[in-house]
Amino acid sequence: MSVPHESAHGHVTGEAIYTDDAIARHPGLLHAWPVLAPHAHAMVTSLDATPVLAEPGVVAVLTGADVPGEGDTGANRRDEPMFPTEVMFFNQPVAWVLATTLDAARQGAARMNVTYSALPAILTIEQAIAANSYLAGPLRIASGDMSVLASSALRIDDELDIGGQEHFYLETQSAIAWIDESGGVAVQSSTQHPAETQEVVARVLGLPKHQITVECLRMGGAFGGKEVQANVWAAVAALGAWKTRRPVRVRLTRALDVALTGKRHPYLARYSAGLASDGRLEALRLELFSDGGWSLDLSEPVMWRSLFHCDNAYRIPAIEVTGRVCRTHKTSQTAFRGFGGPQAMLVIEDILSRAARRLSIPAAVIRERNFYRDGDVTHYGQQVDEARRMSVIWTELKKTSGFDVRRAEIDRVNQTTPHRKRGLAITPVKFGISFTATFFNQGGALVLVYRDGSVQVNHGGTEMGQGLVTKVRQIAARLLGVSPDRIRMMATRTDKVPNTSATAASAGTDLNGAAVADACAQIRSRLLPVAASVLECDPTAVRFDHDMVVGGERARTFAAVCEAAYRQRIPLFAQGYYRTPNIHFDQATGRGRPFHYFVFGAAVSEVEVDGFTGACRLLRTDILEDVGDSISEIVDRGQIEGGFVQGVGWLTIEELLWDAQGRVASAGASTYKLPSWSEMPEVFNVSFLERASQPDVVFGSKAVGEPPLMLAISVREAIRDAIAAFGHGEEVRLHSPATPERIFFAVQRVRAEAVRGLKEPEVTEVTD
Ligand code: MTE
Ligand code: HPA
Ligand code: MOS
Repeated sequence: MSVPHESAHGHVTGEAIYTDDAIARHPGLLHAWPVLAPHAHAMVTSLDATPVLAEPGVVAVLTGADVPGEGDTGANRRDEPMFPTEVMFFNQPVAWVLATTLDAARQGAARMNVTYSALPAILTIEQAIAANSYLAGPLRIASGDMSVLASSALRIDDELDIGGQEHFYLETQSAIAWIDESGGVAVQSSTQHPAETQEVVARVLGLPKHQITVECLRMGGAFGGKEVQANVWAAVAALGAWKTRRPVRVRLTRALDVALTGKRHPYLARYSAGLASDGRLEALRLELFSDGGWSLDLSEPVMWRSLFHCDNAYRIPAIEVTGRVCRTHKTSQTAFRGFGGPQAMLVIEDILSRAARRLSIPAAVIRERNFYRDGDVTHYGQQVDEARRMSVIWTELKKTSGFDVRRAEIDRVNQTTPHRKRGLAITPVKFGISFTATFFNQGGALVLVYRDGSVQVNHGGTEMGQGLVTKVRQIAARLLGVSPDRIRMMATRTDKVPNTSATAASAGTDLNGAAVADACAQIRSRLLPVAASVLECDPTAVRFDHDMVVGGERARTFAAVCEAAYRQRIPLFAQGYYRTPNIHFDQATGRGRPFHYFVFGAAVSEVEVDGFTGACRLLRTDILEDVGDSISEIVDRGQIEGGFVQGVGWLTIEELLWDAQGRVASAGASTYKLPSWSEMPEVFNVSFLERASQPDVVFGSKAVGEPPLMLAISVREAIRDAIAAFGHGEEVRLHSPATPERIFFAVQRVRAEAVRGLKEPEVTEVTD
């Protein structure tokens, strides 16, 4: 069904309301601005707000003394003091100024007297390892006999540096808080996790949760960056409102957002891989180090997901993988689309393409040769159900993309173009769906049907542009047999559905859609006997369809049946609930069934690399993705295209840099290159695997939000393929991201090696 995105019109016209748009509704609203520490690591030795309070327009300064509850906003560990005495990253807020205008708040913050005693800072993973500075780990999963590593025909031991990524959601972090009519605190927040935002606000204010209401209207993008990192701004706004009894707004400017919020974790991978001479993986020893930044945040589950995904789509008989989260004096890195999966998958793809070169086996062949087959079990003990889908996708995509023909053609053309080389690669994705922390895998809903047959749907999920609201509305419409415009999707509120999970792990529709389906099914079953009596037919003959209820020879409007039910004193509202069945994982043994199912997909990408500059053009991408039975093809297509391009950005042009003081140097769109129209593949074909209904998921659909990001690895591998063509086709070492600069130097290396190797260039005939 092609119902447009529920907010498409609003997004395009600018009418869609976001958190910060609500400021006009709050007379007397105060603006907040942080006092920023000019050190990556330092002790705060004194703090004097007197000059700040003299600034016109300044109403209050928030410091630790104002916190009635606990001044720590850490989500997974109490390690994020709101008003730190030890500064842990450059620009960390040490106090907040509230004023009647934003300018006054900024002026005030600049006048704060703070003295610091600077301390040495740890700014890289290598420094953290040397200093034994860890936030978590080692986490570990091991299986199989690692001794085969010693006897493998091919052994590759190396390191891979993997850069992080700035979320760069269009809507920066924002929250508004005010004292509600009964003396509690109401918060509007751009948060993926309203229940946790509520929890953190309650903690800081020392109030029970029922005093706090958090609402999320929608987000202008989140990508994981608002899974836990929305909480602190909400807490500042709430504390400000609590102290001043006036509404308080926190909205980060882009510069503040980039400077203060966490990013995708940079990783260092150290590995030893053993392969047989036919290219089969035999053993993998992998040590992963993530740069967690200053506090734990979600770094531990992120690392678990890395451990779960270091196999990508491949059967590796022996694996020993460990993960450590490094503590550095940087922003606290956090969830980002893929959640640790992408970094780990990059490593195994790196290994396989290098092995292909060393063994002179085409990369596409070595990949396929290693796929899981039905019945195979992962290193953590989960059987890979439907593994055959991977092979089906692979074969189908190679066919529809003309892979073999293009491969030969590119190899031929490359012989004729000394300074420009094309590259082609196909890479797979297998991505596990479910939160790796099992208890998060639940969803709740509250569906209200009114006597006129109009419907309000509440659920715990949040909308960030991914189309959750569109999909859930279609689920409700299908179950109640009404048109989607009869259903109003309500903003997410903690007073409608409590104790919800973050909208994350791509499970938004699986969890909340299923909870809404549960509620709708209850209402429908209550309406059935009413309809049967009104229609004078057997209940089994009743159909809900197109706003009508039909049975036997008769039909009534949905509204008429609702009215009849009301008069018969049948409740027209229901709560729905869903918990993902049959998942579990034991961290101590590293064994379990953490995922409800796997999403499979593959991409073929073709690039052209300029040897003079390292510039790269993405000529064509073909994607075949397993979305199950799509609930909304238009939404799923958007997620696949958007996720892929976001992944291309991460792997090619987005380069996060910190300077020697620990300041984020890539501080805005002028110094941090984001993918835009020009980075889209010039030809972009996206299709869905057919006959792919997924058992035990709402309407047979599959999650789609994160997995396509990792299809972008095909672009990186195509770049590597192109670089290799500048030499004699030897393996190419390449760290990530593959920026033009890195590509350029890789080309130089490959060319130099070709000369040193004293191999004669192949004699070629130029035919055209
Ligand atoms: N799509 C848009 N447009 N904006 C976003 O912020 N976040 C991604 C993905 N797609 C995101 C997005 C991430 S990180 C996740 S986990 C999923 O959407 C969350 O939504 P879902 O579970 O409903 O798919
Ligand atoms: N994915 C995304 N977010 C999460 C997860 C996960 O697996 N676990 C906890 N938060
Ligand atoms: Mo997505 S990183 O799970 O919010």
